[in-house]
Amino acid sequence: MYISRLLFTLLFAVTQRCAAAKPCAVSASQPSNAVCEPFYTTFNFSSYRIANSISQTSPYPPSTSFVALSSIGAYQTTDRGLELYISKPDGEITTTNGTNDKIASGAAVNSTFTLLYGKVTFEVIAPAVPGIITAVILIGDQGDEIDVELLGGDPAHWQTNMFAPRPSDLLPLWGVFGSTEDVPEGKPTIADMHTYTIDWNEDRITWGIDGNTVRTLKKENAINNGEIRYPSHPTRIQMGIWDSSTDAGTSEWGKGPVDWDVAPPYMKAVVKSVTVECN
Ligand SMILES: *[C@@H]1O[C@H](CO)[C@@H](O)[C@H](O)[C@H]1NC(C)=O
Ligand SMILES: *[C@@H]1O[C@H](CO)[C@@H](O)[C@H](O)[C@H]1NC(C)=O
Ligand SMILES: *[C@@H]1O[C@H](CO)[C@@H](O)[C@H](O)[C@H]1NC(C)=O
Repeated sequence: MYISRLLFTLLFAVTQRCAAAKPCAVSASQPSNAVCEPFYTTFNFSSYRIANSISQTSPYPPSTSFVALSSIGAYQTTDRGLELYISKPDGEITTTNGTNDKIASGAAVNSTFTLLYGKVTFEVIAPAVPGIITAVILIGDQGDEIDVELLGGDPAHWQTNMFAPRPSDLLPLWGVFGSTEDVPEGKPTIADMHTYTIDWNEDRITWGIDGNTVRTLKKENAINNGEIRYPSHPTRIQMGIWDSSTDAGTSEWGKGPVDWDVAPPYMKAVVKSVTVECN
């Protein structure tokens, strides 16, 4: 029911825009397409910036493919890729009960396009600092989510997760579909550049690193309390870096809180490329 309404809305929006006899411009608020379209970028937008809602002084036109959710200065497109920054909060930071009273504001960037099934590969370098999370995920407006999460406090591993919430859910099923995987020997930490792949179709999700599939979750096995939970709505690509030092549970999961006496005051994650392939 919900998906048909959403698809109708999307089709309607695309039809409207195309009917105007001009290119179907991608806007930040309306996903351009609900199915998969091949895509590749190194974020080498030598003549583009990433648009966001805050007015900008950049002379460059906005990228039509991505939009920032964080303020200018929190990210940059460079010859090295998309850099996402996180820095020490101003003022004194007090740690109580495994959490910090101030949280570093990080950065996040959405794709403006959506995909419903597809294979997405990210080349990522993440800071190995406890409490700092680098996430490259697929996320839908109704909460469907397929994740790769790089925990700075556990740099020899990477985490995969999936959510397909129901409106009646009181809380996300945090631990239910998550898993922890090894970072391969040779380039043994998340601070080395690795390729992370989410390959999602109607029947299963696989996660891979450096070209090797390490986890397969079949739809028929994605069961919680006797009900199948499986992402089936259009999703955007979202890349971000954030501080997990908030509530006790999140901080504990994130191997935090960040110890700012030790952590560098400025950190960055680099997404060197994003590739979308379609089945
Ligand atoms: C980025 O784009 C510029 C201009 O197109 C090109 O000269 C440069 O080689 C590119 N760099 C990378 C890393 O792709
Ligand atoms: C510390 O955490 C425990 C367990 O989560 C909680 O019961 C307690 O109220 C917390 N104390 C403070 C001072 O926040
Ligand atoms: C980014 O994606 C999330 C998840 O779909 C959505 O809720 C949010 O509105 C998006 N923001 C922008 C500016 O695209």
